[in-house]
Amino acid sequence: MFENHLQIRPSPKLMESMRALGYTSDVAVADIVDNSLDAGASSIEIRGDVSDEPAWLWVSDNGQGMTLTQMVEALKLAAVSSVDARGENDLGRFGLGLKTASFSQCRRLTVISRRDGVTHGIRFDLDELRESDDWSVRRLEESDLGEVPGFQEFSKQEFGTLVCWQKLDRLMESRSSGAAGMGEVIAELRAHLGLTFHRLLAPEDHIRGGLSMVLNGRAVQPIDPFLRQNRAVEMTSPEAIKIGNDTIKVQAFTLPDSSLITGPDAERKDLRDGMYAAQGFYFYRNRRLISHGGWANLGGRRDSTKHSRILVDLPNSTDDQWQLDVMKNKVVPPASVRRQLARFYEVGSRKSGRIISYRGRRVSSPDVEYAWIPVTERGGFRYEPNIEHPVLDDALTDLSQTQRDKMVRALRHLGLLIPYGDIRRRMSIDDEVPAREHQDALVQHVLDVVATLELDLLSPETVGAVLQHIEPFAGRRDLEQIIARAAQAHR
Ligand SMILES: Nc1ncnc2c1ncn2[C@@H]1O[C@H](COP(=O)(O)OP(=O)(O)O)[C@@H](O)[C@H]1O
Ligand SMILES: [Mg+2]
Repeated sequence: MFENHLQIRPSPKLMESMRALGYTSDVAVADIVDNSLDAGASSIEIRGDVSDEPAWLWVSDNGQGMTLTQMVEALKLAAVSSVDARGENDLGRFGLGLKTASFSQCRRLTVISRRDGVTHGIRFDLDELRESDDWSVRRLEESDLGEVPGFQEFSKQEFGTLVCWQKLDRLMESRSSGAAGMGEVIAELRAHLGLTFHRLLAPEDHIRGGLSMVLNGRAVQPIDPFLRQNRAVEMTSPEAIKIGNDTIKVQAFTLPDSSLITGPDAERKDLRDGMYAAQGFYFYRNRRLISHGGWANLGGRRDSTKHSRILVDLPNSTDDQWQLDVMKNKVVPPASVRRQLARFYEVGSRKSGRIISYRGRRVSSPDVEYAWIPVTERGGFRYEPNIEHPVLDDALTDLSQTQRDKMVRALRHLGLLIPYGDIRRRMSIDDEVPAREHQDALVQHVLDVVATLELDLLSPETVGAVLQHIEPFAGRRDLEQIIARAAQAHR
C-alpha cells in the first residue's frame, strides 16, 4: 500500500447492495445466456420449477466449460472488467453479470462446470457470506453435485456449464404463488429470449445458425421484430456508418398495415396494440438485441411513425461511446452518430406515414443480397462492394489472401470512382434512366451463378427461390422466364 493510504476493502455486504441494480428476471437470465454464448455453446437449456424446496431455475450449456481456477475467477467481481480488451464477439462487459444477474433474483448461486472431462462445483450463498463475513465461496464435494438441480441431465456432457439459482426470493416476488408464478416467469422469459436472441436463433444466421435454446422442454422460437418473412415489409439496403475505426450498420424497416399481418404473427402484441410502443431503434451488440423501442431522444413516438423500426448493429468495441449499462439493456447514441440516426428517423417516418396513406402497398422485397452497400462517412457517402454477395464471395474465395485483399481494395476503389456527377446530370437534368440488364445477359449470368452456387437447373423453383434474394435478379418480374431460358441453354 502507498504511504498515507488507508484501507477501504469492501465489506462482503456489498453483494447485498448490488442486488438492487434494477434487473428484471428476464434480463437477468439473458445475461447468464450471454455467458453461455461467449463460451461457444450451441445448445442451451433452461428450466425452472417450484415443486422442490428450495425452488430453482437453471441454465445449462454445452460451451467450453471452466477449470476450477477459471470458476473462482468467474465468481470474483470484475475479474475481467470493462477496461480489459475483449474478443470481438464477446457479449460480456464488466465482469459482473454472473454475480449481479444471479443475486438480483436469488440468494444461492451454484456453478458446476465440466472441462476436459473434469467436473467442479462451487456454491455462492448470500446467507453463508453473511455468516462468514468473508469473500469466500464453498467448493462442492463430488458427492454433493448430484443434489444440484439439473445435474443429472448436465452430467452426460463432456463440456459445459450449469448455473443454478435457488432461494428465488426476488424472482418469485410479486408473482402468483407456486407453479402459477413460475409459469408467469417462464412465459415472460420465452418472449424475452425469443426477441433478444432472435438473430442467433434464426436458422439462416451465418454465425450461429441454428443455435438451440430450450426452455422448460420447449424450443424458444425467434421473434423477428422486423417480420422479414413477410413480403409486405419494406426495407432499405443496409448502410454502414463509420465512427473512427468502427463501423455501425443501419437498416430501416417499414412494417405493413396490420391487415397484412396474418397467421401466428397476428397474435403478437408488438404488431397489434403494442405497435405504437414498439416503434423505434433496435440496437444490437454482436447481433444480440440490447435495447428496443423509442427514438433515443431523437424524436418522439408518433402515430405516423409507428410502422417504422430501425435496426442498428454495434460492435462491442464502441461500448464506451454508447454508454452501455451493466444490464446491457440501454445505450445512448454518441453525439457523432446522432445526426445520422436522425436522418434514418426522418426517412423511416416518411415511409411509415405512407403506409397509413396507401395501406400496405408493397414497394420493395425484403431480404435481398445487394451488390453495393451505401457507406456514410464524415458527412459524405460512397458505395462499397458487398463482399458477402454470393457471386463476389465465390469469385474471391479461390484467391490467395494477398490476391483477395488486393481485389477487395481495387473494388472499394472503384466504388469511390463511381461517376456520381455524370449519373446525377443524366438522371435529373436529362431525365435519362439507367438501362436495365438485358434478358440475354441475365440468362448467361444465371448459368454462372447456378454453377457457382451448385444449384440444379432441373429444379427451377429452387433456383428461383435462391435468385430472388440476390441482385440483379431480385425484383425481376421476368425471373421465371429467365431461369427457363437458362435451363434450355444448359441442355
Ligand atoms: N457458462 C459459462 N461458461 C464458461 N465460462 C463462463 C460461463 N459463465 C461465466 N463464465 C466465465 O466467467 C466470467 C465472468 O462472467 P460475468 O460475471 O458474466 O462477466 P463478463 O461476462 O462480463 O465477463 C466470464 O468472463 C467467463 O470467463
Ligand atoms: Mg457475462
